[in-house]
Amino acid sequence: MNSIQTIKLSDGLTIPVIGFGTYLLRGKAGAESIKKAIDLGYRLFDSAFNYENEGTVGEAIRRSSVAREQLIITSKLPGRHHRFKEALVTIEESLFRAGLTYYDIYLIHWPNPLENLYVEAWQAFIEAKKMGLVRSIGVCNFLPEHMARLEQETGVLPSINQIEMHPYFNQADQLKWHHEHGVVTEAWSPLGRGNDLLHNEVIGNIAMIYSKSISQVVLRWHIQHGVIPIPKASSPEHQMENKNIFDFVLSDKEMDVIDSLTRKDGRTYDQNPAVYQEF
Ligand SMILES: NC(=O)c1ccc[n+]([C@@H]2O[C@H](COP(=O)([O-])OP(=O)(O)OC[C@H]3O[C@@H](n4cnc5c(N)ncnc54)[C@H](OP(=O)(O)O)[C@@H]3O)[C@@H](O)[C@H]2O)c1
Repeated sequence: MNSIQTIKLSDGLTIPVIGFGTYLLRGKAGAESIKKAIDLGYRLFDSAFNYENEGTVGEAIRRSSVAREQLIITSKLPGRHHRFKEALVTIEESLFRAGLTYYDIYLIHWPNPLENLYVEAWQAFIEAKKMGLVRSIGVCNFLPEHMARLEQETGVLPSINQIEMHPYFNQADQLKWHHEHGVVTEAWSPLGRGNDLLHNEVIGNIAMIYSKSISQVVLRWHIQHGVIPIPKASSPEHQMENKNIFDFVLSDKEMDVIDSLTRKDGRTYDQNPAVYQEF
């Protein structure tokens, strides 16, 4: 059994437990790469207004033979457009860029807490959902305190929080909060953006037991934590490899061993959402 399983979000939308990242996939080559991923069976796609590739994602969808309704397409609101009216117009612009009539998932890209406008952006998201522009609304890089404030001020919690997570930064406390509040976690840079994680000896030894690659073991570790990894891979070989992770199970001990690799300073780019801001 190697087909992709699914999970239901708090608002009822069902999505695959592994997705596909598209950062840096742009233009003709990007569209071909994303189309290949659709052909290989990926159904959940991540993009962002700031990646300047919503058009590329839309083009890949049109080139593929898979119906739009079978795909779960995501984009994100940049930090410079958190004001209510601007957020709504940006979602519309996002749709125009992709040539789509709705997004399945739309996320606030960063909370930018020093600007203190993320609640306004969230109110626009609630409105956009009512208008049918998006099916499910969520956030990225939100700390528990940011999400608690959304719930307090609007009564609506995000369906998803997309955060940096990989064995060098396992986000145990944040995952616990998500779990307790019914927020599904997506993991960005699940492979550490191809850094030395993919040469880690400890994970390599576990990979050998299952005749799998280090990438496969890392992505399997995400899945067994109940987290949706969204690896980006331009080559079909990597795309195929990354989704062939449903025919083996890591033991509790192996999960613990991989968890023990986490470090306080394990973030890939030192982007702590309490202080880091992106526009
Ligand atoms: N919300 C946010 O703030 C945020 C921030 C960062 C990223 N993201 C999203 O998360 C997605 C994934 O993160 P990411 O792109 O930063 O990094 P990543 O998915 O952890 O790593 C991508 C890198 O790993 C390589 N790779 C993929 N599969 C491989 C395999 N099986 N073996 C060896 N190398 C492999 C890729 O190479 P090739 O391309 O050459 O195959 C690429 O260089 C992004 O694309 C984006 O959609 C969101």
